[in-house]
Amino acid sequence: MSRSAHPAGPRHADVLPEGHYTAPPADLNSLDPRVWAQTVERTPEGAVAVGGLDVRRLAEEFGTPAYVMDETDFRARCRAWRDAFGSDADVYYAGKAFLSRAVVRWLHEEGLNLDVCSGGELATALDAGMPAERIALHGNNKSDEEIERAVEAGVGRIVLDSFQEIARVAHTAARLGRRQPVQIRVTVGVEAHTHEFIATAHEDQKFGLALAGGGSSSEAGEGPAAEAVRRVLMLDSLELTGIHSHIGSQIFDMAGFEVSARRVVGLLTRIRDEHGVELPEIDLGGGLGIAYTPEDDPREPHEIAKALGDIVTRECEAAGLAVPRLSVEPGRAIAGPTAFTLYEVGTLKELEGLRTYVSVDGGMSDNIRTALYDAEYSVSLVSRASAAEPMLSRVVGKHCESGDIVVRDAFLPADLAPGDLLAVPATGAYCRSMASNYNHALRPPVVAVRDGQARTIVRRETEEDLLRLDVG
Ligand code: LLP
Repeated sequence: MSRSAHPAGPRHADVLPEGHYTAPPADLNSLDPRVWAQTVERTPEGAVAVGGLDVRRLAEEFGTPAYVMDETDFRARCRAWRDAFGSDADVYYAGKAFLSRAVVRWLHEEGLNLDVCSGGELATALDAGMPAERIALHGNNKSDEEIERAVEAGVGRIVLDSFQEIARVAHTAARLGRRQPVQIRVTVGVEAHTHEFIATAHEDQKFGLALAGGGSSSEAGEGPAAEAVRRVLMLDSLELTGIHSHIGSQIFDMAGFEVSARRVVGLLTRIRDEHGVELPEIDLGGGLGIAYTPEDDPREPHEIAKALGDIVTRECEAAGLAVPRLSVEPGRAIAGPTAFTLYEVGTLKELEGLRTYVSVDGGMSDNIRTALYDAEYSVSLVSRASAAEPMLSRVVGKHCESGDIVVRDAFLPADLAPGDLLAVPATGAYCRSMASNYNHALRPPVVAVRDGQARTIVRRETEEDLLRLDVG
């Protein structure tokens, strides 16, 4: 996904080196609303504020690095998804994107359900008061303990991922005297990428049960998924409520979802024909993309809801099936745009004719996505405005490896100096939740801001936290 180098107005060279960047923005102080949370603005003084609070004050009070989450924006996105899908559908926020007790309460208050994929996420959800019937449990290798806790709590659905798990969940539910609602996760033979999808004959990945039989077309529905349906329907302790499909993540193109919906409805039709049962639910998973840089152009929730609703309705009508209740599981699309990471600049290293390395006080321990997925981010100077010319920069962390890059290519003002604050937007999803203690880094706090109030919802780790686990 290399973008073309642009020769306009660089500080270091007449011709810029190869990189993932476009021209410097006309105004380095501007904040593109596509990548920044809703209440972020530049104040007349020149610094950036969120929820009415100046980032310099936030840095002083909470320290850096810190994830700063715009609660107003988070709640607005929840409502936008809920309203777009309406009362005939359910929105399950995917907790893996970012989960904390405060987030669970926001979801509850805004009428969303919650998808958890581990015992830890389930514990957080239950502890913060999410009603168990609004929780779905995922995972390709759930432990017996996780299954037992979920069944005991009475979760609304367990999404079955393998033949072994059918037996395990059935056994646990029977032992506890329950009839557990379950969905079966199928792989529909669609490999989704950002701007394309590739239909695959073989489902070469760890998740789910394939629709396709060995080597045959996914449309046939004669594969392990159909066999799983047969087995689940025979078990009294399981109530099969629907079929689940998740095709990938950070997807912009709806075509993959359409193929997925069509194939899932195909399976529902077969189940009706073979077993005389019409399953009442379809879950099409998460995966909707967000803007990390202004070049990304994500769909709005109402467009997504319409596209998915239309295809499911059309396919069901064609097959003579009652339209099932639809659910979706957006994680990134809700949490991602709501937060930015606030860093302080420590050192600058200028490589004449190439770029300037700007080292901040965090790095790959708080955002592994650049190193892991070659993800692109944008970045802005937020503690002041600057009229200086653009400087091609690479924002790097403080970890002991050269792959410790936060923003690979970005233009920052040439008068950038130690002590300045930078913010990287769109870090609300898969940054804190994938953070590590590499180099014994202390994971940053998550600070929620709303209407002029800021509060820590996940506190900064301390050296005592680190040493507490070290019991040798
Ligand atoms: N439902 C299921 C079953 C999933 O596996 C996932 C994500 C989601 C929903 C939510 O997907 P979303 O709407 O957030 O794209 N760490 C990677 C993303 C991994 C996603 C895994 N599953 C990243 O940082 O891009």
